[in-house]
Amino acid sequence: MARPLIVDCDPGQDDAVALLLALASPELQLLGITTVAGNVTVQQTSDNARRICELAGHPEMRVYAGCPRPLLRPLQTAEHVHGKTGIDGADLPEPQMPLQPIHAVQYLIETLMAAPQPVTLALLGPMTNLAVALVQQPQIVEHIDRLVFMGGSAFEGNVTPAAEFNILTDPHAAQVVLSAGIREVVMLGLNVTQQVISTPERIERIRALKTRVGEVVAGMLTFYGKFDLERYGLPGGPLHDPCVIAYLLEPQLFQTQPCYVEVETTSALNLGRTVVDRWGTSHRPANAQVAFEVDAQGFYDLLTERLSCYK
Ligand code: BDR
Ligand code: CA
Repeated sequence: MARPLIVDCDPGQDDAVALLLALASPELQLLGITTVAGNVTVQQTSDNARRICELAGHPEMRVYAGCPRPLLRPLQTAEHVHGKTGIDGADLPEPQMPLQPIHAVQYLIETLMAAPQPVTLALLGPMTNLAVALVQQPQIVEHIDRLVFMGGSAFEGNVTPAAEFNILTDPHAAQVVLSAGIREVVMLGLNVTQQVISTPERIERIRALKTRVGEVVAGMLTFYGKFDLERYGLPGGPLHDPCVIAYLLEPQLFQTQPCYVEVETTSALNLGRTVVDRWGTSHRPANAQVAFEVDAQGFYDLLTERLSCYK
């Protein structure tokens, strides 16, 4: 039976590929998409999510706009990575499908509370929406089957030496979520997602699908790779967010270990750092399964195969 799923995201080229992967996967029953401010403003991420749904041939999908800023920090977007639209390189028309009339937080609460079975949450951006939902209605915890998120790092960050973009954007929200007592949390941090590189060869395999989706994904990844080449000397952009969907489809691609994880919310130097207690030195019970290894080629094989479903 397909697993009910809500994706919360801030597209973002890598979020966009994650949505395309989810929409092409019959094992997942995508109930709705919630958007948040992150890579670009929430107006833009909401437009982008709808553009991607239309590209995927799913104009019936429900997209709910969420929080326009983090809980405490001012919003700092990432157009220098993702381009002005957040999905530069895609060249998609203005969306025609409507944005849903209720707020993403309200949608999360109402859907989770009414769900006949617990729902999986995939978080691909700052965790503001889920944090606000948890504060407003703590009982939703019981209705979350598991939470798989891209964010943080067991090692170094990508915005500061200590912090990764999604967590640094809203560290307070991330700490609310990680300390909420959700029964299963899976963290896919930079320490694994930065190994999942869109090399020119992997992009060409996707372009060679010779479909509109293949062409758009190849265009986005070509644009998105420029930053990582200049900044890190990597041969392409890491597909951070699609790792979350790949984990839901083929968890054996990742090796995880139960760890206690806490977000630094006070120090100026380490703000937004996900402190991962890999060796149990804090003696605190694990609150997440943290990924330490990934089969990157297996990931691209899965992605390319699923994208080939789009005609
Ligand atoms: C994360 O930040 C964003 O730029 C990407 O979409 C991804 O979610 C990587 O640090
Ligand atoms: Ca993202």
